[in-house]
Amino acid sequence: MHRATLLAAVAALAGNAAAQFNMLRFACSQLVVERTDPLVNPGQFYTPHLHQIVGGNAFNITMDPANDPAEQSTCTSCSFVQDKSNYWTAVMFFHHRNGSYIRVPQIGNGGPQGALINDGGLDIYYIPSGRTTAFKKGFRMLTGSATNTNDNNVNRGNICHRCWTSPNENTFVGGAPCTGSDTVAIPKDPRCKLIRQTLIFPTCWDGKNLDSPDHQSHVAYGQGSGANGGGACPSSHPVKLPQVMYELMWDVSKFADRNMWPTDGSDPFVYSMNLGGAAAHGDYVFGWEGDSLQKAMDNGCNLNNACPSAGLTTQPPAQYNACKKKQQAPEDVNGWLQAMPAGEVAMKA
Ligand SMILES: *[C@@H]1O[C@H](CO)[C@@H](O)[C@H](O)[C@H]1NC(C)=O
Ligand SMILES: *[C@@H]1O[C@H](CO)[C@@H](O)[C@H](O)[C@H]1NC(C)=O
Repeated sequence: MHRATLLAAVAALAGNAAAQFNMLRFACSQLVVERTDPLVNPGQFYTPHLHQIVGGNAFNITMDPANDPAEQSTCTSCSFVQDKSNYWTAVMFFHHRNGSYIRVPQIGNGGPQGALINDGGLDIYYIPSGRTTAFKKGFRMLTGSATNTNDNNVNRGNICHRCWTSPNENTFVGGAPCTGSDTVAIPKDPRCKLIRQTLIFPTCWDGKNLDSPDHQSHVAYGQGSGANGGGACPSSHPVKLPQVMYELMWDVSKFADRNMWPTDGSDPFVYSMNLGGAAAHGDYVFGWEGDSLQKAMDNGCNLNNACPSAGLTTQPPAQYNACKKKQQAPEDVNGWLQAMPAGEVAMKA
């Protein structure tokens, strides 16, 4: 191989750590943007901060683990018909120097593995490493902490942000997720056209508990970090899970003019807790139909392709974009807002 071609091939692989093996990678559009959080604040309306939720439309404020989202959902905003799970994250706001806030628009991922199309929301990965045991009915978990303000308390190998300097999502920037110049903090650089957010969940399970009081201690990270399916599991959490990864593309291109940025040096981009990247977090409630996820992992189903051996079928963007839910905690979350939903004070709970 010509040296330049070889280098390009190596760079493409490095930029795409998971390309050597099969994994699921698919789009999920926004189901609803609202202040609810059935995992951390079950039963509560107007929880402390705003979330965007994707997945099955059985999502509600209670989410009793005894109720199976796969049975109760009549549609999903994700491209695989069999995936009625719910995935949610905080939303990013731009803070104008005049005091107003506006939600940062989102687009789907592009890059070497192909473009994903979504209407807001996020792109989901399930990355197996060796033999994995799929999540059981009723399983849920959380990664990150919505109250953390210290970048040093976050493993940058699992939760990170990338300044995407290329003009669009299809021109790949950088190496594997959460490597290189990726940061825990949300980048603050007018050269960023997009900010890519990555949340990588733990891959080791205690094998017993579907949840835990902090929604974290029933799972653990394996050795190493990054989007590689996870390394060896500790003896306390011996069961290897598929690695769940969320990727979000925040389109900050309209906010490059520094004359719009806060004059006091505070961050122009913040999450809905009114905090920065150290507070990035993701919530997961498993809801695949039957053993479809286990079969998808066992049969090497790949990317967002239909996978008959696991019974996976896909729906076109127009169909998954149409799966929406009315806000259970109604309030205006679109356009320029005088303040962040919940106001400044209640935010950090
Ligand atoms: C949430 O969904 C469950 C199952 O469908 C239902 O029993 C419960 O009443 C719902 N709760 C609310 C507040 O809608
Ligand atoms: C702040 O600026 C935006 C963009 O020009 C504008 O739409 C919004 O109304 C302004 N807010 C205030 C409080 O002036």
